[in-house]
Amino acid sequence: MRMTMTMTTTATTMTIATTTSAALSRSLWLAAAATVAVLCAAGANAQSLVDELAWAYAITPGTDPAAPVDDGTQRSLPGTDKTFKLDQIRNRQGPADWFPGDHPSMPPVVANGREAAGIWACSLCHYPNGKGRPENAGVSGLPKEYFAQQLYDMKHGLRMSADTRKPNTPRMIAFAAAMTDEEIQQAAEYFGAIKWTPWIDVVEAKMVPKTAPRGGMHLRLEGAEGGMEPIGKRIIETPRNTEYTEVLRNPHSDFIAYVPVGAVAKGKALATTGGGKTTQCTVCHGDNLNGLAVVPSLRGRSPSYIARQLADFKQGTRHGPWAPLMVQVVAKLSADDILNLSAYLASLPPEH
Ligand code: HEC
Ligand code: HEC
Repeated sequence: MRMTMTMTTTATTMTIATTTSAALSRSLWLAAAATVAVLCAAGANAQSLVDELAWAYAITPGTDPAAPVDDGTQRSLPGTDKTFKLDQIRNRQGPADWFPGDHPSMPPVVANGREAAGIWACSLCHYPNGKGRPENAGVSGLPKEYFAQQLYDMKHGLRMSADTRKPNTPRMIAFAAAMTDEEIQQAAEYFGAIKWTPWIDVVEAKMVPKTAPRGGMHLRLEGAEGGMEPIGKRIIETPRNTEYTEVLRNPHSDFIAYVPVGAVAKGKALATTGGGKTTQCTVCHGDNLNGLAVVPSLRGRSPSYIARQLADFKQGTRHGPWAPLMVQVVAKLSADDILNLSAYLASLPPEH
């Protein structure tokens, strides 16, 4: 497969023609560095963008409440005859696989990580089916080249979170740094072979359930603390069933993303016309935003995750070899634009 892209940075204009994502030309690196330098110089309000997008990071003030203690009870879920104790469900070197039939056979790094190298099982956070959760990422159905490139970017210090308080991104980076080329290829092929299917229900709402940030996502408050509150300028992405997601890590229990009324239409307008401040997303992500080679698919993915990535490009903390193409796209976007685009992309039903 061959693809050609034209990239304009503040420093230079160039055409990138490549047959593989591994082609990292020296000029591309220089362009990336120059773009980041310009961004940093102009980035005095960097922290305020992250603050405006606080909903996407869901950082717990103080510390998270302790996880429930394993009392030895065997837990079960509808649709599977497997049972696991809590410590098996959250075992870092081999978490519960509730539905072995819904995914291909896992390579060792996905099922178990590699303890000697400090790598946790990918399936712990991203689930065996790669659906992921708002505080990490949906990793199935991504082009293999793109997937591998991200792990190399993390390995080489080119991809970090714009919010340094987010605790799990440095963990992810440490795993990538310890992975061998073979493990990276195996993980990219495994998750790339699983179709991305509906996982997030986008609901426009004025009022939303009261939630609290816990472990990087919003959990619904119950009892006296519960009730409804105005959504404000936020997307509240929360498990449909708190117990299933938080305690049992059920990879079949999906998420609801409450978004402000009108956000999807505004995001669509920006994504499809550019609105005078950005480039139409379809130019690079494909007519249906299904991605290709080093360009990821965007349909139906976590809006919290997508918003964090747009912030990372804007603040220059995601600056791998292909990031300059996105730096152009986000340069003029506000926190509201990022929210609207994330709502729109999440609302698109997956196609493949
Ligand atoms: C501790 C939880 C955790 C584990 C375990 C984990 N990840 Fe991640 N992963 C994350 C987080 C957090 C992110 C980035 C989220 C962010 O910065 O917004 C991420 C992001 C990614 C991405 C980027 C996705 C994209 O669309 O660009 C890939 C690829 C990935 N992980 C692969 C893996 C692989 C392969 C493994 C197993 C070796 C693994 N992860 C293990 C938490 C985890
Ligand atoms: C000029 C080409 C180009 C255009 C136009 C473009 N993108 Fe991208 N996009 C890319 C490339 C290349 C990457 C991968 C960057 C990397 O590897 O760091 C990417 C990555 C992303 C990611 C990260 C996804 C993930 O899984 O982490 C998001 C989100 C994104 N783009 C959103 C958009 C949106 C929204 C638009 C339209 C407003 C858009 N892009 C327009 C080329 C483009």
